[in-house]
Amino acid sequence: MLKTEISSIKLKTPLILASGILGTAGTSLKRIVTMGGAGAIVTKSLGISPRSGHKSPTIVKEEKGGLISAIGLANPGYENFKDEIEIAKQGGAPVIGSVYGFSFREYIEVAQGLEDYGVAAVELNLSYPNVGKTGAFYGKHKELSFEVVKAVKESVGIPVIAKLTANVSDIVTVAKSCEDAGCDAITAITALEAMKINVDTGRPVLGNKVGGLSGPCIKPIAVRCVYEIAKEVDVPVIGCGGATTGEDAVEFMMAGASAVQIGTGILTRGITIFKKVSKEMEEILKRGGYKNVGEIIGIAH
Ligand SMILES: Cc1cc2nc3c(=O)[nH]c(=O)nc-3n(C[C@H](O)[C@H](O)[C@H](O)COP(=O)(O)O)c2cc1C
Repeated sequence: MLKTEISSIKLKTPLILASGILGTAGTSLKRIVTMGGAGAIVTKSLGISPRSGHKSPTIVKEEKGGLISAIGLANPGYENFKDEIEIAKQGGAPVIGSVYGFSFREYIEVAQGLEDYGVAAVELNLSYPNVGKTGAFYGKHKELSFEVVKAVKESVGIPVIAKLTANVSDIVTVAKSCEDAGCDAITAITALEAMKINVDTGRPVLGNKVGGLSGPCIKPIAVRCVYEIAKEVDVPVIGCGGATTGEDAVEFMMAGASAVQIGTGILTRGITIFKKVSKEMEEILKRGGYKNVGEIIGIAH
């Protein structure tokens, strides 16, 4: 009932682990799959060389439905991640490699490296809300997004997914540029630029001052983005941002998503969230008289 496909990648369910939430251990990624319910997993974003990330604190817990994080792309560098990918693959679900770079050349090298290590697809992290101006750069400009996607697409044989930010005046224009550049799918959205100030100290709480807001509070924005993008592009859209229940996932799919990523929800519903959400989705589908999850994609249009 929940089987689906994203650009030739077969998924047991439309639920995908979002990049970064579980850090960089292959065993954690594998565990998500063995707990059941996840159709695929995305690795932490990997770059050309190891990065230690921002100074602490890197996460602020907001009581109002989400959290703000500024990890600063801490990662071991793609070459040190080969064994972790091997371990993650043992879970039996497709592993999608998340790629960031500070130049086109870096994006290409990391994507090619991850392809060699056997990932099923690469997801291009085009905008990191909390890594300086360069980090947020590519995904904020339709021309640069086009160039990055095109450069990677011409360099690898596996599907290329463009992950977009909603911190732009028109996300649909950026999505169309990525489609024109040949991307195979679009993930919308990444965490939104945000900030928390401690009223007793009068200082920003995060070590990096600014971070990315994720969790249920961003879901309505993410659903709106998916709806608008799906209306204008032909490639599959992967919803991301605040999904924690079956109802959320169904909502994303009715807006036009072919699959849904879950990240922050793991912190509130635990690592069995994928199993719980897939069960809840099945119940909603049965209630509506649907036989297959594909029937609900985009019905809100
Ligand atoms: C702690 C943390 C680390 C993250 N690291 C990454 C990352 O490395 N690459 C990336 O593309 N997105 C990263 N994200 C963003 C998530 O993948 C996701 O796009 C965002 O959190 C919205 O989804 P959610 O509300 O389900 O968490 C991170 C989010 C959090 C909370």
